[in-house]
Amino acid sequence: MPEYKLVISGGRELRGETSVSGGKNTSLAVIPAALLADYPCQIENLPDIDDVRVLVRILRSLGAKVDWHPEAKQMVIDPGTVTSNTVPFALSQKMRASYYLMGALLGRYGSARVGYPGGCDLGSRPIDQHLKGFRALGASIRDENGMIVTEGRLKGANINFDMVTVGGTINVMLAAVRAEGDTLMTNCAKEPHIVDTANFLNRIGAHIRGAGTDTIRIHGVSRLGGASYTVIPDQIETGTLMIAAAATRGDVTLHGCIPTHMEALTAKLLEMGVMVTSQDDVISVKLRQGHRAIRLSTQEYPGFPTDLQQPMSALLTRAVGTSEVIENIFESRFKHLDEMRKMGAKAVINGRVAHIEGVPELHAAPVYAPDLRGGAALVIAGLMAHGTTEIYNPENIARGYEHLENKLNRLGASISRMPCVNEVNGDAIRV
Ligand code: EPZ
Repeated sequence: MPEYKLVISGGRELRGETSVSGGKNTSLAVIPAALLADYPCQIENLPDIDDVRVLVRILRSLGAKVDWHPEAKQMVIDPGTVTSNTVPFALSQKMRASYYLMGALLGRYGSARVGYPGGCDLGSRPIDQHLKGFRALGASIRDENGMIVTEGRLKGANINFDMVTVGGTINVMLAAVRAEGDTLMTNCAKEPHIVDTANFLNRIGAHIRGAGTDTIRIHGVSRLGGASYTVIPDQIETGTLMIAAAATRGDVTLHGCIPTHMEALTAKLLEMGVMVTSQDDVISVKLRQGHRAIRLSTQEYPGFPTDLQQPMSALLTRAVGTSEVIENIFESRFKHLDEMRKMGAKAVINGRVAHIEGVPELHAAPVYAPDLRGGAALVIAGLMAHGTTEIYNPENIARGYEHLENKLNRLGASISRMPCVNEVNGDAIRV
């Protein structure tokens, strides 16, 4: 398949209305959770993104029947034909969320063999807390040539996480819902997609209380039914589009959002002088004049999301003054700033702290998308810059945003996909 690049003709204001897609990180948890059901489940509002495509391949490789209609955003999962408990490394390393197959397979079948997860390179990203939870529930765990093998009849337990972990909270919840007895999880993450996953599991008959708080109580059940369930809209896509609207000094209205999920970002945009209004499931963002520099510190939900730190830093490159960005969640989440410097941004990185001095303009340049949200940040920078920006390795962006270019083009952007060709002989460069 020919390698492609995104070509962005910048300097255009985003104006108009668009809708937000179903949540990536919630879908990547609810789809594996459907393996715990004893009957087929129909999941609605799923985004048509590459990470969901990989999950479909994983579930089918286990023997599950998966009927997916991307255009209808709908998937029917029947786990009744699952015959395998093994997720090969070739598939598990394609994404971070493959780790959820551990909790789901262990919780349903009492054993799982899953290759170490992949995902964006944001630092070491261990899964020790996931394994700590499985052990507490009675599972034995061993490493077999890069495969994590977990097995055991699970019994409810008390689990206190050493640090707040989104994936760990969801994964232990998946393992515990069919365990014998009660489980108490403390120091849990509170992200919206944790609540969404718990709501899905309760819809099929689980007994989970407290999702969205730091304490989750689960009463194990031996059977789980099937159900229809609609996943929540994507908090991070919503935020990315809000930031893009402000970055182009545009006027954009987003439909199908949950404004309460956006409060940390909204507060920071208002602090910068951006106009943000919301009503029911609609958010409007407008910016006419310059915007102020801020101090930004990423936190677990409901604090400022780490996944919006990178898109936000694009907006900060043109703020009046110098902003301070502190990345508290991941060790290494500033690679996109190296790329933005090529576009004229002024940023100094010191470990987990970046200082971004606002400049009057960015200029176009060829840049490389280092990871999913860093790629989205470079798209925003390309929209802001004068001239034609080329973004290489944009496959990272397609992993987690549904048709991002199309949505932005419908708002007035000019973004196209072009094949990468060898400048010398003109041959298409193929991956
Ligand atoms: C989830 O990653 C999301 N991914 C990330 O979104 C998101 O940035 C992150 O949560 C924080 O909100 C998915 O949901 C698929 P964590 P996850 O466990 O589960 C450390 C995106 O762009 N940690 O909350 O990996 C870890 O290294 C992606 O959509 C341990 O030390 O995040 C990190 O520093 C990027 N041991 C911190 O905790 C563990 O066992 C938070 O990680 C688990 C985590």
